[in-house]
Amino acid sequence: MTRGPVIAIDGPAAAGKGTLARRIAAALGLPYLDTGLLYRAVGRKALEAGGNPADPRAAEAAARALRPEHLERGDLRGPVADAAAAAVAAIPAVRAALLDFQRNFAVERGAVLDGRDIGTVIFPDAPAKLYVTASLTERARRRWQELRAKGITADLATVEAEMQARDTRDAPNMRQAADAVVLDTTALDAEAAFACAMRHVRARLHGGA
Ligand code: DC
Repeated sequence: MTRGPVIAIDGPAAAGKGTLARRIAAALGLPYLDTGLLYRAVGRKALEAGGNPADPRAAEAAARALRPEHLERGDLRGPVADAAAAAVAAIPAVRAALLDFQRNFAVERGAVLDGRDIGTVIFPDAPAKLYVTASLTERARRRWQELRAKGITADLATVEAEMQARDTRDAPNMRQAADAVVLDTTALDAEAAFACAMRHVRARLHGGA
């Protein structure tokens, strides 16, 4: 039981769910949790502890020891963290160990959480669920632009191939809830996506569609 609403936002990488989730949380005055960071922090801890994040024992121990301050560390992005996060995310005992962390986050005031399985596994009863997606080509283009903005030159076709590999890797844990509203952001800019998302969320929270 939570005292405020839970908004579940799921979808593939680079579909825009993080930006949307953060803005929805700010608009509704709710705490925000990027659940990908949990897997990233556990991956990092497992690397430090045993060297192999795919080792279920090391990864589960790291998940059980996860504390909120671990999400603040500065090395949770980049290829090494990506690979470690994907490895620990594939371990069922890690996912089970992170359940309570995610549920507890919303206990006091409700929350907006983004991830892959929020609307299906973590909060199947959430009153508002969005499944945010975009075409593979558009998600790759966005990631490529992000890299370019950081001064990293990358080949668009390579970024797209990596994105596809990532989709395949994440697929076993990616679930679209039957009662989620699908928001395809392929042809939407951030403003339009936010307006559309807020309409759906408000309708769901206030007993509408
Ligand atoms: O969204 P992200 O790229 O930060 O996620 C990092 C990894 O964790 C990625 O491999 C997907 C996985 N993940 C997951 O399995 N379930 C979640 N709720 C969030 C992320």
